[in-house]
Parts: sequence; structure tokens; C-alpha cells
Amino acid sequence: MSSPPAQIEARLVPSDLTESANTLKTEFTGSPSPTARKSEPISSLREILASEDAESDSLFERFAWLYVFFREKIFRDDTERIVRALWPNGNPPRGTRLIELGCGPGFYSCGLAARFPQISVLGVDRSAQQLKCATAKAHGAALQNCQFDTDDVAHLSHADSSVDAVIAARLFTVLPKQERAVAEMFRILRAGGRCLIAEPRYAFWASLPLYAMWALAGLTRVRNGYCEPGKATVLSPVAFKALFASQPWSRVETWQDGRYQYALCEKG
Ligand SMILES: C[S@@+](CC[C@H](N)C(=O)[O-])C[C@H]1O[C@@H](n2cnc3c(N)ncnc32)[C@H](O)[C@@H]1O
Repeated sequence: MSSPPAQIEARLVPSDLTESANTLKTEFTGSPSPTARKSEPISSLREILASEDAESDSLFERFAWLYVFFREKIFRDDTERIVRALWPNGNPPRGTRLIELGCGPGFYSCGLAARFPQISVLGVDRSAQQLKCATAKAHGAALQNCQFDTDDVAHLSHADSSVDAVIAARLFTVLPKQERAVAEMFRILRAGGRCLIAEPRYAFWASLPLYAMWALAGLTRVRNGYCEPGKATVLSPVAFKALFASQPWSRVETWQDGRYQYALCEKG
């Protein structure tokens, strides 16, 4: 990855904002904003953005397309780390049930489902718009083994011991009830199952999508009650380790690598 801030800045400088909003939306959701679709001159960025769902209380819901841009173009791709951590021989057994918590636009869910047709993947998120993007991605790749559903990671609708593997990436950056989510990961995993968590370590880098989404929310001034924090939560290595120690895993490993930190947990 070369220089994320420069890339973002280049695409979102104020004079280009209107065009960028439409281009990015079309690129990642497959549908230009209603304003652009009318083949009339685009009048203002505010008009484009105000045409979105003004009732949503989540920035990930309201500016889903912008988060997709960050996920697809800016963030680190941890697919190889996930595969090595969950299945050291690189080959998950047939029938493996994998769940991704806070899957957003389905980057990992779709990637893993495409790579391993013998497993079934479910991505869950509370944002309908993120799930819409994820589903479109899965359909675009004609994936038969990848589904998406609404769920709350603090109160998952899944039965105890019902999945073989859990992944979550960048989830804790926006989650207030972190210990609750870890308890749910433990609960739904079967004995012998593994979970891999990937989280950013530095608040500035981790906050870039939030800064961008809050900036757009400020421009539209449609509503100002979004539930996300102004800045991402990042945990110190000690706090990160302590978070996972809150459950009786048979094995917990945490480590840092550049701007990210990881936890691999196994249920006994
Ligand atoms: C920073 S994004 C990470 C998305 C994706 N995992 C990735 O790798 O980019 C956090 C996601 O968690 C979702 N989320 C936040 N709180 C949640 C909750 N309580 N239950 C389910 N999803 C939640 C948000 O809607 C958002 O899509």
C-alpha cells in the first residue's frame, strides 16, 4: 500500500467531492446515486448525499459505499493470515462452518468462500446497506457457499457450539461492548473451533473511514445522531490480550504486525 492519505485526499478534495461521490458509489454499489441517474447536471454534493437514507443511525449504513472504498482499496488484506491461523495446513475440512462478525461489505467472507468452495460462510452485520453490498459482491462472484444476515454481535442469534470458525476484522474499533462480543464468539464456537481477530493498532489510521464519513455527515447536516464514535477505539497490546483472557479459551495467542494486531483463540 503506497500512501493512503494521499490517495484519499486525491479522491475527496472538496472541488471533486460531488463527482467522487458518484464515481465511488457507482464503482462499489453498482448504482449511481439517484441524482446522477437522472442524466441532469449534478447540482451539489449535498443533494447526492441527502438522497441517501436519512433515517439510518449508523454511518456504515448511511455511507456504506464510502466504507466499501476503504475496505477494498486502502486496508490491509489479511486473508493469508486468517487462513494460516485457522487452518494451518491451508485446507479447511469439507463442511466447515465459518462466521464473520461485523462483516461489513463482505471482503473476507466472499474471499474465503471463493477460495474454499467446500466450506460455508456466513457474514453478519447490523447494517443493512453493508449487507447489501456484501450480497452483491457474493452474487457478482456467483458464490453458492456464502450468505449474509443481520445480527448483533453482542447477542448473536446462533446456538451454542454451532460454528467451526469465527473471524472478525476491525470490529472492535467501533464496538462499545467488546467483552460481550468475545463472550458470544466463545459461546457459538464448537469445542476445538478457532477464532481469528484482526484489529488496527493506531487510532489515526484506524479512524480514517470514520473521519471521512463524519465529514460527509457534517456536509449534509441531515441528521447528526449517528451511533459511531468520532474516533476509532484501538486497544493497547496489553488491553487486547486482556480482552480475550475474559473467556476460558484453551489457547490464546496475540501478536502485533505493523499497523495491526491479531488474536488467535481456540476453544477447548
Ligand atoms: C469497521 S467495520 C469492519 C467491516 C469489515 N469487518 C472489514 O474488515 O472492513 C465495522 C462493522 O461492524 C458493524 N457493527 C458494528 N456494531 C455491530 C454490532 N453490534 N453487531 C453487528 N455488526 C456491528 C458495522 O455495521 C460495520 O459494518
